[in-house]
Amino acid sequence: RQIQWFPGHMTKTLRLMEKEIRNVDCVLQILDARIPLSSLNPEIERITAGKPHLYVLNKSDLADPEITKQWLAYFKSAGAGCIAMDSKQRGRATATKGLIEKELSALMERRRSRGMVGAAIRVMIVGIPNVGKSTFINSFAGTTRAKAANKPGVTRGKQWISVDSFDLMDMPGVLWKKFDSLETASNLAFIGSIRDDILDIEELACGLLSSVRGIYPQQLLARYKLDAEALTLPPYDLLQAIGAKRGMLISGGEVDTERAAKMLVGEFRASKWGRLSLERPPRRAIQEDMEEVTDDAPQ
Ligand code: G4P
Repeated sequence: RQIQWFPGHMTKTLRLMEKEIRNVDCVLQILDARIPLSSLNPEIERITAGKPHLYVLNKSDLADPEITKQWLAYFKSAGAGCIAMDSKQRGRATATKGLIEKELSALMERRRSRGMVGAAIRVMIVGIPNVGKSTFINSFAGTTRAKAANKPGVTRGKQWISVDSFDLMDMPGVLWKKFDSLETASNLAFIGSIRDDILDIEELACGLLSSVRGIYPQQLLARYKLDAEALTLPPYDLLQAIGAKRGMLISGGEVDTERAAKMLVGEFRASKWGRLSLERPPRRAIQEDMEEVTDDAPQ
């Protein structure tokens, strides 16, 4: 089945970005802390390549804090400004302001020397659907400014939002046409950035189970009160076992796997399995920077 995750409005958004990139001083890409690389949009990177870049590891309250620290070190070792964030908490964006000012210190100095005091720093806020852009902007502004659309793929146009000395350009969420791996596509689906109605929910749940049981087996066992042997089951059988445990049966005593799958995906997204990170940075790249990253990741 052909999955149509790249609707027409996303093409429009990419064109809009191409047009507007010259009107901003830097780009702030919001990533999902649980899947920083899968949520990093290569099309956005291409379009915005000429501008200073910063990254926000958003929803870090849902991610494994240890792994988030490693990701911060990873981005740092790549020379990129990066910060972990729980945008649902008001006021946490203050750190982001500091990060932007640090990244743009040369530009600000140039402006000061030309007497351009009071010129706002223009920041383009970009990211995949559902990554938390609106929530981030509201946290940054300290008040509700961006309309939070809770369905991925909801179209919004570009809008400017002024906060203190910053002008934020809020862009609609956008994916890209061709995912480089099934793993990337799956990760995006797990976190709800691809519309669920075009996905097979049982396949999604099975994919999630195979991914999570390898890295966080204890969380799965504990949440669904399973014996360790359950982990050796093929994913579909594991889904059935979980459905049975929850008493999700249809007539004839069979497990309602669709219902079990919906429950599983919902519980994962609601962080009921605990704080999980589905992607880890390559170890070699981060070792030297690990010591410098201390308390950036919220606990
Ligand atoms: P978008 O503009 O990028 O599409 O994303 P949006 O801000 O609408 O956020 C998508 C969902 O992610 C929302 O949940 C929002 O509350 C949640 N979210 C955003 N940032 C964070 C974060 O840092 N941590 C956590 N835990 N959640 C975050 P929703 O279920 O759609 O709505 P609601 O639960 O807020 O009602």
